[in-house]
Amino acid sequence: MQSYRVQPASVVKGRVRVPGDKSISHRSIMLGGIASGRTEVRGFLASADCLATLEAFRAMGVQVDRHDETSLTVHGRGLHGLRAPGQVLDMGNAGTAIRLSMGLLAGQRFESTLTGDSSLRSRPMERVAKPLRSMGANILTTEGKPPVTVRPSAGLRGIEYALPVASAQVKSAILLAGLYAQGQTTVTEPAPTRDHTERMLRGFGLSVDTDGPRVRLTGGQALQGAQVQVPGDISSAAFFLVAGCLAGAEGFVVENVGINPTRTGILDILSLMGAELRVHERPSQGGEPVADIELRRSSLKGIAVPESLVPLAIDELPVLFIAAAGASGETVFSGAAELRVKESDRLAVMADGLTRLGVPNELAPDGIRIEGGHRLKGGEIESHGDHRIAMAFTIASLLADGPIVARDTENVATSFPGFVATANGCGLDVLAG
Ligand code: S3P
Repeated sequence: MQSYRVQPASVVKGRVRVPGDKSISHRSIMLGGIASGRTEVRGFLASADCLATLEAFRAMGVQVDRHDETSLTVHGRGLHGLRAPGQVLDMGNAGTAIRLSMGLLAGQRFESTLTGDSSLRSRPMERVAKPLRSMGANILTTEGKPPVTVRPSAGLRGIEYALPVASAQVKSAILLAGLYAQGQTTVTEPAPTRDHTERMLRGFGLSVDTDGPRVRLTGGQALQGAQVQVPGDISSAAFFLVAGCLAGAEGFVVENVGINPTRTGILDILSLMGAELRVHERPSQGGEPVADIELRRSSLKGIAVPESLVPLAIDELPVLFIAAAGASGETVFSGAAELRVKESDRLAVMADGLTRLGVPNELAPDGIRIEGGHRLKGGEIESHGDHRIAMAFTIASLLADGPIVARDTENVATSFPGFVATANGCGLDVLAG
């Protein structure tokens, strides 16, 4: 089992660039695969999660030519051109891959089975299967979890669906099934979630209406291959945004970060905590706003994090807990029960790691209270195979007096290949082994 041994560090400097956005990279393969003509993707995230999507679509007959690590061409087969995979589709660790694919596969004329690693096989799939069934889909889960089998149905019909939880994966799965449904499909969200599916569908020539919390599309529309330029992933940038607030030297910049407003909760939360950050906007890429973000060491203070910001920072919360540990006073996160069904139970796993490093905290069913402002002691933490836990505790080395050993770090490769090199390049001291 791979671990990181992270020595205490006191400053991060220079310019950091993170790999492409995971959510957008998955979607570029999926939409490219069912479009007519070619889709050219640049800035693709060649991580284990996105490569699982790529291989799944290859198995369904989609030709994907990889030109280099981050550039590829998807030869679309049209809305009805996918073919039966002839193998179980293994989505690895990737929740986005399996849930969005369930929606897309619900409209196919062949049967498919989707599975994943032990973490993915413990994650809830009925939240997607249920609304899809009400569209007429024929889906079997294994006690609510993967493996999931999607059988051909007699035909899908559009629905109006109010999401019970704020989830872009569920919203996107329903919209993708809606492409194959008769009539209109409408999804209403309880709070805004990432809108990459809607934006990219428009980029592929579709008409998608957004009216406040409601998204609507009409089935049967054809997608046209497009150019997709993938910006840097703000969820990967998050580790260095927090590092910059804790220990940024003058001129520390995280470059080329996607700042879609449905993803920027971390910037709002850090600003409320007193972060000195400046957003330098760049020209947008592939319908997505992008910026360089400049940060410096700031006196962070504890806050009650507004619940409205939680869905907009859902994947960044683990590293924001580290920011809270470095802030003076108490920070309270609530309305974050969704963290319990991510790649690990991120509330419990983070609370355990914080406790091991001497950070007082109190867990709640839907959040955590963290008492910040103390130096951390070194120690060993368990990542539970969760990439974002491993990376969050690497950043904690900026607050620590002794080495931190993060165990079970292989899955950092699911979202951030090159993390260790990037971290060491700006002043952290990480040894992977
Ligand atoms: C994602 C949506 C979020 C997020 C995940 C990626 C997406 O999941 O946590 O990492 O690409 O749509 P939920 O929809 O379960 O909140």
